[in-house]
Amino acid sequence: MSMKLWQTNPFQEMTLGRGEGSFVWDTKGKPYLDLVSGTWCNILGYGHSRLVGAIQDQVSKLVHVGSSFPTREIGEALLKLREVLPPELNRAVFLNTGSEAVELALKMARTATGAEGIVVIEGGYYGATIYALSLSEAGRKTMYLPQYGEIHRLPVPDCRRCPVGHSWPCEDYYCLDMMRDTVKEGEVQIAAVLYEPVMAGGGMIVPPPGYGAQLRALTSRYEIPLIAEEVTTGMGRTGRWFGFEHDNIVPDILIIGKAIGAGLPVSAVVTTGEIEARCESVLRHVQSHQNDPLSGRIAATVISILQEDHLFEQAAERGAHLLEGLKIVQSRYPSIEDVRGKGAMVGIELTEDHADKGKVVFQRLLNAGFIVDYQHETATFRLFPPYIISTQEIDSFLIAFELSMKD
Ligand SMILES: Cc1ncc(COP(=O)(O)O)c(C=O)c1O
Repeated sequence: MSMKLWQTNPFQEMTLGRGEGSFVWDTKGKPYLDLVSGTWCNILGYGHSRLVGAIQDQVSKLVHVGSSFPTREIGEALLKLREVLPPELNRAVFLNTGSEAVELALKMARTATGAEGIVVIEGGYYGATIYALSLSEAGRKTMYLPQYGEIHRLPVPDCRRCPVGHSWPCEDYYCLDMMRDTVKEGEVQIAAVLYEPVMAGGGMIVPPPGYGAQLRALTSRYEIPLIAEEVTTGMGRTGRWFGFEHDNIVPDILIIGKAIGAGLPVSAVVTTGEIEARCESVLRHVQSHQNDPLSGRIAATVISILQEDHLFEQAAERGAHLLEGLKIVQSRYPSIEDVRGKGAMVGIELTEDHADKGKVVFQRLLNAGFIVDYQHETATFRLFPPYIISTQEIDSFLIAFELSMKD
């Protein structure tokens, strides 16, 4: 009897064998330009020599120790995070995946406040574990699983389809009225408001300017911890180190994933001394792979490479080039409803009646050697190119995309 891989998510037909730069090759030797960085993780592309060198060196020295032993590598990762974060965010725990980091952030908020309710924006995706999935709506096929915890949902801050019937610029962020009502002092106990600076899982929704600042003002007024969920937007993806910087705010808890490992499983939760003090002697969190020296070496190396090569600034320019090119394609195809993005994350939304066409375009692109992501529910292509992608590579995609859109 053969052993078969259980495909818990849809699989493509080709088997991948090796990668270099922005390309990955299948085992038959066909190259693919990867415009989504694996699962939005490979920000340095495939086989980045300095990252590979650091990993090889670290593997030969120390990969894992018991989670109660400090290591030099975790110390270095803390120093690097210190360089790129506001001073208030100065307590960190390193984990492996975004889902785990979301779980720990929620634990911290609930422990610090003694409250249970979590306010979250509807339509997002926050991870595959039960609590993270309970907050999620995108990608949530397993509705039969128990919904965990008390969850309050805010309408999606998408001004094109304003959930409360206004148009941008609006005076008072009416989509936050529900939050104002929900948290009216004493009525419900809220442990945290969790928001994503750009909603990746929710269909690449870019909230209006100042949305994060409004959330910060409201949470501060009601003394509720604000969690910036930056598994996707963090580490330069939006053109700043972290998405919350666009709104000139500092969250109480920050969740980092994907990009900090550049293809390896590293995530982190960063918070303030105040939250730590409020959790002291109550919160206990132990995982086999927590604060591993290999994770520390990877995180420190990735931050150093981004700093030294000014990579995400470059990625933001490339993202702008991609957006500009796509807007030209949009002007020729009425079936493209919207092209939007921030930094190196770009969404291409088709009109609702062309949602099925997106699947055809996806397949045509794959056949032509281009890997993209297509979310049928929102009729949106989501692009997260590696930060090292070249202008020529983007141009080759723009040509292929336009060709694939033809009837
Ligand atoms: C915003 C966001 N949060 C959390 C996660 C979960 O991260 P992971 O798949 O690493 O557990 C994802 C994954 O796509 C995500 O996009």
